[in-house]
Order: sequence, then structure tokens, then C-alpha cells
Amino acid sequence: MAGPPQPLLERLKDYGQEDAFALWDELSPSEREILVKDIESLDLPRLDRILRCSLRSQGLPTPAIEPVSEANVSTIEERTMEERERWWKMGLKAISEGKLAVLLLSGGQGTRLGSSDPKGCFNIGLPSGKSLFQLQAERILCVQKLAAQSVADGAGGFVPIHWYIMTSPFTDEATRKFFESHKYFGLEADQVTFFQQGTLPCVSKDGRLIMETPFSVAKAPDGNGGVYSALKSSKLLEEMAMRGVRYVDCYGVDNALVRVADPTFLGYFIDKGITAAAKVVRKAYPQEKVGVFVQRGKGGPLSVVEYSELDQSMACAINQGTGRLRFCWSNVCLHMFTLDFLNQVANGLEKDSIYHLAEKKIPSIHGHTTGLKLEQFIFDAFAYSPSTALFEAVREEEFAPVKNANGSSYDTPDSARLLVLRLHTRWVVAAGGFLTHSVPLYATGVEISPLLSYAGENLEAICRARTFHAPCEITY
Ligand code: UD1
Repeated sequence: MAGPPQPLLERLKDYGQEDAFALWDELSPSEREILVKDIESLDLPRLDRILRCSLRSQGLPTPAIEPVSEANVSTIEERTMEERERWWKMGLKAISEGKLAVLLLSGGQGTRLGSSDPKGCFNIGLPSGKSLFQLQAERILCVQKLAAQSVADGAGGFVPIHWYIMTSPFTDEATRKFFESHKYFGLEADQVTFFQQGTLPCVSKDGRLIMETPFSVAKAPDGNGGVYSALKSSKLLEEMAMRGVRYVDCYGVDNALVRVADPTFLGYFIDKGITAAAKVVRKAYPQEKVGVFVQRGKGGPLSVVEYSELDQSMACAINQGTGRLRFCWSNVCLHMFTLDFLNQVANGLEKDSIYHLAEKKIPSIHGHTTGLKLEQFIFDAFAYSPSTALFEAVREEEFAPVKNANGSSYDTPDSARLLVLRLHTRWVVAAGGFLTHSVPLYATGVEISPLLSYAGENLEAICRARTFHAPCEITY
């Protein structure tokens, strides 16, 4: 019986991965063909480099982490009304000039949520039944409109905000179909660009390939930091430059309150003339599953330590002066970069072969086995940034994570829905409206269509002296 193709077997042997052919004798001719193609598609030298660097780096000392200096954070308390208004206007102006693109990281598999659909398709049970994708699309529509209106006498015309959506082989087809079947939620189809991130093989703790089936290697997306090489290989950074984009707002799909294309944040970013910025909220409790911003060594660059990599004693450490957590600035996965900086990172990070090793249960021919997923993180880029600032957001206004299935004790669709309803209820009351409700108010509220208001503005004409019966959606 013919054995595996000799040259391919030799190549695998060079990297100690020949076990991938262990079940060759038991495979049918078509399965053998699939396996050969699968192995041929792997970049074995790159994988080997990543594995060696990443496994070796695990034991190496890293620069001690320090809390972020307050000088790097724009806190809610220190911002004046004038500044906020100025930044809002500056941001709208830049948007009206087509200088902002938004980039959604949507390649994750959402396993914790217990759904096989892309996370963005998830309906968190708002009165409108809108999916996370739809909420984001409508916020983009609203900002576009506000930007067009902000231009004196409307002379600038209407400039769409371009939305780049990163998918992975696991989410791509379903995401595209969802957008098509919902007619892009009112956006122009040509203002949305989908592109795919890469995958990397999953390996055992000693670096051997894990076989998902006897004829295919287990693979996983290369982390949301895979966005940089994906942008580069798909030549989208050049495309952005051609469109006149100068700033890119990158964010995660699973925050029901995410302020996509936030003019205030953009205005702040432009005003400060920095290369990278992140929105942060104060960490709610030590074990909250959020990355925290830190300073690497005294005066070192700002970076994020992911919750899975933060030592417990560090997570709980208290600043004796303030009584607050020492590492308190939580990453909400919403970052702003200049396009120039993205270009530098796309070239720099690609050469960086140190990946995060996440220990996960990997589906394999031996059932679910413990193995390693190799990932880069979007925030790894901060280490390269010459100037970074953090912008504190009000948690109740901007952070409603949807991570776990209902029934879990935190960050569920139910908890996110309540956060949206409570915020929108406050907007209605502030705009002079009234509410009636047949269930307790703490468990319900009203929803405002993002097409009506982005951040609570322009609601008086609709709400003043009107009564709404919760739960309901207020729309046109
Ligand atoms: C993420 C942040 C964490 C932050 C938290 C806030 C990262 C690495 N971690 O954690 O610091 O405090 O959100 O809610 O950013 N994604 C991809 N491709 C992948 C993996 C993920 O596009 O290969 C996307 C997901 O679809 C999602 C986003 O990245 O939109 C965040 O990914 P997820 O793995 O859910 O991160 P968390 O662990 O929640």
C-alpha cells in the first residue's frame, strides 16, 4: 500500500510533526487527498518559528508591570463640558470629510455564548429584536447623518463611513449572508467590506499538531490581533488610504452599548495628536474578565495584560492611597489608531513571532483534548505606539458585554439588554418623557432606536410630555 508522499513526510519530519500522517493506512483515497492538501497548506517554517519563540518566551522574565500613570488617562471627572462639545464637533467634522473608518473584529467563535452563529447575529432580546450587528449598523447610520448635518449649510454633502468587518473561516459565510438577508441594515452594500483573518494549527503542550479528524489538522483563528496581517495581505490599508481615511476605530462585536464611530472619542484623539488610544472603564471587581492597561516597566509603553494572563495577586492589589484597585483601567476592546500607525504595526507585528498561548479544549480524534491555541491580540500593537492615551468612558453608558449564555451570573444577553434599557430609559426621562410599566422598572425599560439618537441627543421633540409603556422600542 502506498505511503504518504515522501517529500511531504520528510518536511513534516524536519519539524517533528510526522504524527500527522499516523492514521494514513486507515484513510480512504479521498481522505488521503484531503489530508495532503491540508498539510500542504500549512506554513510549517512559520509555525515552527512561532511555536519555538512563544513556548520559549513563557519562561522568560518580563518587565515588571506598573499601574498606568494618571497623566495618560482622560478621566470623566476632569473633562469639561466645553471640551466634550469641542471634541464632538471636531469628530463630526473629520467624519464628514471621510477621515474615519470603522473596523469590526468579528472572527471569534463565541463558544462561551453557546451559539454556533457569529456573535453579531445574536439577538439579546431587546423589544426591537435587533441583533448586535443591526445595533452597530444603525449607530453608524446615525453618526453619518449627524456628521452631514454638522457641516455648515450641508455643503460638504454626504460621506458614508466605511465599515470593515473582519471574519474568520468560521464566521465568514454566515456573516455575509446575514448582512445580505437584512439588506445591510440600511447601509449601502458598497460601504461594507468583509475580509478574513487567518487561522493557525492548534498544538499539544509540547508543540505537536492536534488532528481534528484523521485527515485534518485542528485549527483556530489567530486571535483578534490577526487583524494586522489580514489587513496587510488583503491590501485594505492601501484601500483605506485611497478613500482618504486617516483614523481607524477598531472594536469588538460583543458590546451591546458600543459607541461605534464615536465623534467625541475621535475628536479627542485628533486633538491630542496621538497614534493610538483606547476607551477604558474602571474595573468593577478584581476577577472581572477584562484586560487591564499597565505600564511595562517605569516609563515603558502602555500595554494590556489580558485577564487570562494577570496574576491573581496583581488583579486584587489595592492602591493604599486611593483604596481603589491598582490595575483599574479595563480594556473594553475599542481602540482608535491612525492609519499611519496601522501600517507600521502591520509590518512590525507580522515579524513578531511571540504569540499568546491559550490553553483550551480542542476537538480532536481523541475527543476534546487539552491543547494550545496560538493568538495575537489587537492590543499587542500598543507596545509599538509612540504615543498612547486612555479615554475613560462611563461604564453604564458604553459597556454591556455579551459573553456568556443566559443563566450564567454575569455578562449575558439578559444583563446586556437591561443595561441598554436602563440607559435609554434615563435618556427618555432626561428628555421630558414619562414611563409606565407593568413589570418592575428594574427589570424593564424602553429602547431607543439608534436611528433616532446616538448618545441621548435630539430626543426632546419625540419624548417631551409623552408617556411610553415599557418595554417598547421608540422609533420613528
Ligand atoms: C476582549 C479583550 C479584553 C477585554 C474584553 C472586553 C482581547 C484579546 N481581549 O476579551 O481585553 O477586556 O474583550 O469585553 O481583545 N475576535 C476575532 N478573532 C479572534 C478572536 C476574537 O475577531 O480570533 C474578536 C471577537 O469576535 C470579539 C473580540 O475579538 O469581537 C474580542 O474577543 P474575545 O475572544 O471575545 O475576547 P474577550 O475574552 O471577551
